[in-house]
Amino acid sequence: MFALPDAFSDKMKMLMKDEWKAFADAFDAPAHKGIRRNTLKIDEQSFKRLVSFVGTPVPWCRTGYEIDSEIRPGKHVAYYAGLYYVQEPTAMIPAEALSPKPGDMVLDLCAAPGGKTTQLACMLDGEGVIASNELVTSRSKILAENTERMGIVNSVVTSAFPEKLLPAFAGAFNKIQVDAPCSGEGMFRKNPDAAKQWSPERVSACAERQKKLMMTVDKLLACGGEVVYSTCTFSPEENEQVMEAMLETGRYEAVPLELPGIVGRGRPEWTLHGTKAVSLALHVMPHEVPGEGHFIAKFRKTADASNQPPLDGKRSKKTAFVRADKKTIKYLKTFCDETDMAFPQGEILRVGDVLFTPPEGFNTARLSGMRLLRCGIPLAEVKKNRVEPTHTLAMTLSPENFGNVYDTDDDEIAFAYLKGEPLTAPVKGWCLVCWHGFPLGFGKGDGRIIKNHYPKGLRIYKK
Ligand SMILES: C[S@@+](CC[C@H](N)C(=O)[O-])C[C@H]1O[C@@H](n2cnc3c(N)ncnc32)[C@H](O)[C@@H]1O
Repeated sequence: MFALPDAFSDKMKMLMKDEWKAFADAFDAPAHKGIRRNTLKIDEQSFKRLVSFVGTPVPWCRTGYEIDSEIRPGKHVAYYAGLYYVQEPTAMIPAEALSPKPGDMVLDLCAAPGGKTTQLACMLDGEGVIASNELVTSRSKILAENTERMGIVNSVVTSAFPEKLLPAFAGAFNKIQVDAPCSGEGMFRKNPDAAKQWSPERVSACAERQKKLMMTVDKLLACGGEVVYSTCTFSPEENEQVMEAMLETGRYEAVPLELPGIVGRGRPEWTLHGTKAVSLALHVMPHEVPGEGHFIAKFRKTADASNQPPLDGKRSKKTAFVRADKKTIKYLKTFCDETDMAFPQGEILRVGDVLFTPPEGFNTARLSGMRLLRCGIPLAEVKKNRVEPTHTLAMTLSPENFGNVYDTDDDEIAFAYLKGEPLTAPVKGWCLVCWHGFPLGFGKGDGRIIKNHYPKGLRIYKK
């Protein structure tokens, strides 16, 4: 039987009452596994043809599938081609609840490793901006890698304390996802270490941090904008009570959430002041839904512009961005001519040695002084008298848009490439290496051998 922390069991027994036994028994059931199709790259029919282990559709997410627990989805070539994201089915709910439309300015505030970001990017379908922030630097690198693998073109990735975003981004977003750091009670069976780290003090500390985060969100969100707050925990302090505090500001209304297959609701009896509107939120419980524990609440900002909270902090004037000069633009043009690639549309900017195109209409000055991991598409690195394409560029291309293509349907050859091995083919110059027509990265041929340009840090060492 799963060893739950005693204090957690005592508390939940009291809260769950008649449901306690079913709730506690659910911890002994296996955790659920899922994948979500990357709609930016592949349609449903081709996906089912190429990904042999696609399982049962997830009722609440049109692009999600529950997969067999034996399957290791991170070990398939389709994963490296960015055709899916590995995500537990109930973790797909918060982005479905936010449901942005193409053209929206979206912020994913606590974004690593990128499950919600990559899902939101699919909904934007390349239009608008998906800005993803992650406080922890090491995790923000994984986030940036995931946006790269999935071929997202309108991605901005920063690593900052949420309040540091304020001077530049006050009122800038019309949709915000807050997948808050929490005590992780809903993940106990998936990650037993979360149970070992649990304590009542941790729950209180998380609740304080979550309320502070939501105060920052209030300043980042445009009037009339919407925010989805979610956790993967059961505790009322981090869920119903955060939602109640948000509604008590008088600046927000709760937006009702209805998703197919989800039954649990927020519980007014778990609030401090009996706020009934918390029942408009979803409280996903593992004994009711095939998945892990989550809480998801959606709010619309009703406060008007005259009632916007004051900002603290100054916007940095320091800018890392410069417009690419004529000489570097010429190098990029030469690369495009030689590879039959269309010259990128929009502004070409330079940060250090990297040329990139920001998402359309995005004011890059906002990013001044910020720790930035990505802005739009990093196109190429400037070398002496030439440019070398980035791996990110490869992942945003399709074979029709590039001159030389080496396409294989053979998993063995694809794995050899992903391990960093050279390929044998009579190709000259830069070449897009693909599997079933989906890019894995670049290579450069001398007419006989294609030298491997798959980034060293991403290479796999075991199949
Ligand atoms: C639940 S996880 C996010 C998961 C992510 N949304 C996804 O779907 O892949 C919460 C994230 O918040 C970050 N975090 C920790 N402390 C934070 C803080 N004070 N403010 C904002 N984010 C924080 C954590 O590092 C963690 O990556």
